Amino acid sequence: MTDRKATLSVGDKSIELPVYSGTVGPDVIDVRGLVQEGVFTYDPGFVSTAACESAITYIDGAKGVLLHRGYPIDQLAEQSDFLEVCYLLLNGELPSEDENKRFHDTIKNHTMLHDQMRNFFNGFRRDAHPMAIMCGVVGALSAFYHDQMDVTDPKQREVTAHRLIAKMPTIAAWCYKYSVGQPFMYPRNDLSYAENFLHMMFGTPCEEYKPNPVLANAMDKIFILHADHEQNASTSTVRLAGSTGANPYACIASGIAALWGPAHGGANEAVLDMLAEIGDESNIETFIAKAKDKDDPFRLMGFGHRVYKNFDPRAKVMAQTAHEVLSELGLENDPLLKIAQRLEKIALEDEYFVKRQLYPNVDFYSGIILKAIGIPTSMFTVIFAMSRTIGWFSHWNEMVSGNYRIGRPRQLYTGSPKRDYPKK
Ligand code: SDX
Repeated sequence: MTDRKATLSVGDKSIELPVYSGTVGPDVIDVRGLVQEGVFTYDPGFVSTAACESAITYIDGAKGVLLHRGYPIDQLAEQSDFLEVCYLLLNGELPSEDENKRFHDTIKNHTMLHDQMRNFFNGFRRDAHPMAIMCGVVGALSAFYHDQMDVTDPKQREVTAHRLIAKMPTIAAWCYKYSVGQPFMYPRNDLSYAENFLHMMFGTPCEEYKPNPVLANAMDKIFILHADHEQNASTSTVRLAGSTGANPYACIASGIAALWGPAHGGANEAVLDMLAEIGDESNIETFIAKAKDKDDPFRLMGFGHRVYKNFDPRAKVMAQTAHEVLSELGLENDPLLKIAQRLEKIALEDEYFVKRQLYPNVDFYSGIILKAIGIPTSMFTVIFAMSRTIGWFSHWNEMVSGNYRIGRPRQLYTGSPKRDYPKK
């Protein structure tokens, strides 16, 4: 941090505020002293607000750059695997070969749930949305694993990280199995993380499930691409919950709840619903017009981003993965993919989207891959949450292992001035 200053004039007052520079990216103005001057900053939606200092992920929206601990997302997607990326996000450095093997083995040996947790699933209606089940079950983990919840103890935080990374695929797959009335599949220690997830999703006790390596590789890429994304809405929710000292399972459950919204993690499900509603390439122009109509709440799902004003680097990798999966499954002519490709082409040439720098984001192609693999749209955000758990936990861990204060924003009050209760 530097000792540079910004000067703010408020009325006849001139207020000096410290300016800090990070490793890379915009400088920040420290406005903490403003409350003593009797004024607040005002930034609904936190468009211009840096809520914390972090060393985990860096995004350059103008250039379409995404770095995890300095490593570009496309290199991690091509050369790493999800568990190695988990280690990197959590610890700040890539693991040595020995550390990587030990980490993989540790995760492999924590994939089962406390067997009494099965009862939790049975309390839900079979047609419950899987995100509702995941919210409830993850929040309930604190009722089963309270032996390691001292947030001040780094070792206990590490055990909790391992438990969450390992158990989320089991919980996610059981959410699906419960919704289709099939028996829960237990994890297998002879499979990779992504293979195990596919086994628990699509395997049955009747025969051995053999994961397709192309589909397992695609799932691992999807996990990597959704792992973390700086201070997005759900991560900021986790940090705010964590700032009260709440236990990590409750904080992760709050992140799952925030991710569920269609403007955030729920967009991948909304993209597929939108493509299905468009139904045919001949209807695309009508929906583009709806997206541009201010009186119509319809938005082009999977397009636009608060930070990216260029291509979302994750969308590029996702588009390539979509082609790999669809050609492996002989679905190159998948009608939804054709609609998506035509929609993307038209939108990228349309002045409305160009002027507002609206590009496809991570959610635009992910749903096409997941649908091709046979995963129902109601499970898309569950998979997003499963992957983002490492990002949420890494940010929570970064915060609680340092100096932090409870998050408590203020407001611009525009309600009624003081008035007396009418005498009866
Ligand atoms: C994720 O933050 C993250 O990092 C999130 C995420 C992560 O990894 O955690 O990247 C994951 O959430 C990706 C985004 C998924 N959501 C969607 O795809 C839903 C569709 N997109 C929009 O709802 C919107 O683009 C947001 C929510 C993503 C961003 O909203 P902003 O930054 O608040 O932008 P805005 O609403 O102020 O829009 C600016 C302008 C507006 O028009 P004007 O008022 O200037 O005339 O662009 C328009 C908007 O109407 N606009 C769109 C649009 N997105 C923005 N118009 C049509 N279709 C769209 N998709």
